[in-house]
Amino acid sequence: MKKICAANWKLQKSPAETRKFLTDLKAQTLPSAAELMIFPPASSWETTSSLLNGSSIKWGAQNVWSQGSGAFTGENSAAILKEMGGQVALVGHSERRKIFGEGDAWMADKVAYVQSLGLAPLFCIGETLEEREANKTDEVNKRQLQAGLSKADKSKPVIVAYEPVWAIGTGKVAQPEQVQAAHAAIHRELEAMGFGKTPILYGGSVKADNAGALGKIPHVDGFLIGGASLEVASFLAIANA
Ligand code: PGA
Repeated sequence: MKKICAANWKLQKSPAETRKFLTDLKAQTLPSAAELMIFPPASSWETTSSLLNGSSIKWGAQNVWSQGSGAFTGENSAAILKEMGGQVALVGHSERRKIFGEGDAWMADKVAYVQSLGLAPLFCIGETLEEREANKTDEVNKRQLQAGLSKADKSKPVIVAYEPVWAIGTGKVAQPEQVQAAHAAIHRELEAMGFGKTPILYGGSVKADNAGALGKIPHVDGFLIGGASLEVASFLAIANA
């Protein structure tokens, strides 16, 4: 199976910057062993769609609502994403959970709705520093998986990303033993839930210099990358690693 290399740009890159990045990216020789995905801000969906539809690079939303249209001021529509050619949607990124107060209950509806459209949810889980220090990592991941996938269709694609909150944007990458233990536990839990084939990505300060080692850990099926995905060179260096 190809490893997934997903770029989460967060609230960065205007349409013009998106155009430049994607044009530069497409001009490079892309790694055959990795599947690339780009998550631009919604204001760059149109540009992304015009440059990536029909290419081997997938793209998607950083967040969507659990219905396609209606009185939901400020939200993004997965139905519109699909119409524009997007194939994936992040659900439950820790910044959505922490800054915007999204709770476990919403995740299940979002995952189910994204799947119902034939898109793949990329569902994010992970513990905070306090939870890790209290030895609650596995318990938190299990709770988030059970809540978020409670309405998911086992016969349709879903991707999970394990992102320890304390490693996101902090430069503190989790140690290989920590990643190995968490991914093994997540894989066991997914198997018990009937989602055993689900790819599990790691996210949190992934860079070109740690991607090679992290990518060799069992059940690390790719990466969700924030900061290091903003430059073509560093994003591709990770994908090549
Ligand atoms: P980071 O972000 O690579 O900048 O730590 C990862 C993420 O938030 O998905």
